[in-house]
Amino acid sequence: MATRYEAVMARKGEIMKRALGMDYAEFEWSPIAFDYEGMMGAHGYTLEQIRGIQRAAGVGGTPLLELRNLTDLVRSYAEPGCGARIFVKDEAANMAGSFKDRRASVSIHLAVEKGFAGVIAATSGNYGAAVASQAARAGLACIICQETFDSRHVGQPEIVEKSRICEAFGAEVVQMTVGPELFFHMLELLESTGYLSASLYSPFGVSGIESLGAELAEEMTALTGAPPTHVVVTHAGGGNTTGTARGLRRLGARTEIVSASVDLSGLHMASDTDFNRKSFTTGHTGFGVPFATWPDRADVPRNAARSLRYMDRYLTVSQGEVFYVTEALCKLEGLERGPSGNTAMAAAMSLARDLPGDATVVVQETEYTGAGKHHWAQLAFARAQGIEVTLGDPADSVPGASIVIPERPEQIRATEVDLGKLHRSYVRNALRHAGEGYAPTPEDIVFMAEDTNTSPATIEEMVAGLSAGA
Ligand SMILES: Cc1ncc(COP(=O)(O)O)c(C=O)c1O
Repeated sequence: MATRYEAVMARKGEIMKRALGMDYAEFEWSPIAFDYEGMMGAHGYTLEQIRGIQRAAGVGGTPLLELRNLTDLVRSYAEPGCGARIFVKDEAANMAGSFKDRRASVSIHLAVEKGFAGVIAATSGNYGAAVASQAARAGLACIICQETFDSRHVGQPEIVEKSRICEAFGAEVVQMTVGPELFFHMLELLESTGYLSASLYSPFGVSGIESLGAELAEEMTALTGAPPTHVVVTHAGGGNTTGTARGLRRLGARTEIVSASVDLSGLHMASDTDFNRKSFTTGHTGFGVPFATWPDRADVPRNAARSLRYMDRYLTVSQGEVFYVTEALCKLEGLERGPSGNTAMAAAMSLARDLPGDATVVVQETEYTGAGKHHWAQLAFARAQGIEVTLGDPADSVPGASIVIPERPEQIRATEVDLGKLHRSYVRNALRHAGEGYAPTPEDIVFMAEDTNTSPATIEEMVAGLSAGA
């Protein structure tokens, strides 16, 4: 087994080059810097072409809804004059029930155009369903590699449900236990099938999300006379933040970009024992923080999802707060939706409370719910894993040990993540991956400033501090 592993890993570069449908080496400048915009534009599609590809694939053009009852609720406890208008883009209306269809539609279009017979993606989440659904429409074969179980062979209800959906769309699902073998198995499959790697982190996929940002700018302008003042985006791998912000910017919107994740601090995503102690399988800090601070940890040489370039703020909410908001959305707005969009919704309620009444806060996605994704299934599973579920102040919850559901809406209070700390951690990771003793060039400094939306002076200060061991 060790020899097979080593042999496949040694061929990693050539397998990936063929399977990714592009040569990332063309964009490399140094061990730190690369031509990000060049890589993003290499597919050659304009935003209008992407929107056309998506229309033909049944993707996009989802409803934008104003949530008047939720806004009224927030205003009932906000300070006088405060309480922004809250809106939501109902991305559950996409073919496979989430914004991930926007990503998948472009990758599948490219696979057909380049003559691939099938696609492979590594994902335990909505992206698998999106790729499987789009592949089915295009008549392509599809393999989804999934980390499904812990070593007891127990699977999170949401992930198990995802296996079923991918299979319903005709995909083959390779289920694995949590651990590092996922990438190895995927490489083996890519090599033996010759399929396209429909990575979540490719420029094709992330460009596919720009249409969502563009729709937000256009539809909010039609509805309120201006693009949204704030957009709240659930954050895991960072593609959602990156693509949405790029789309808004393309239309000239100066919207504040607020990323949001469920706080799962203390739980380790690659840990067999922690794997099933969380009630959220995505949109949480276990992905959000590592991906923001080291995007290139992905299954592509350079990740197109680089959220620190775009986020103005990063908020976290607790699991109990998201469950509460999930029910509030059902009972006040008649909208029963899944966990990911409701993560941003919980953060949006907290944000809207502190903003003036004429501000507009858009939650840029919903996802479908059902079976394993439903909050009742998740809470039942959490209890079965020994997690205490109580009512009280959500600030008292401990990820992996307890879930505290708020008693009143005013207890929903998002926590601000210190972006300065994330930037420092990004610089530390960039230097570490560049190799021992590597001295960043002026070009590297400018690249890191752009990659973190800071200034060269800030980066130089951080580099100096890190070299001094601070
Ligand atoms: C419905 C939904 N929302 C948000 C996210 C987070 O997106 P990203 O990983 O691009 O940050 C995911 C990713 O798994 C998702 O499936």
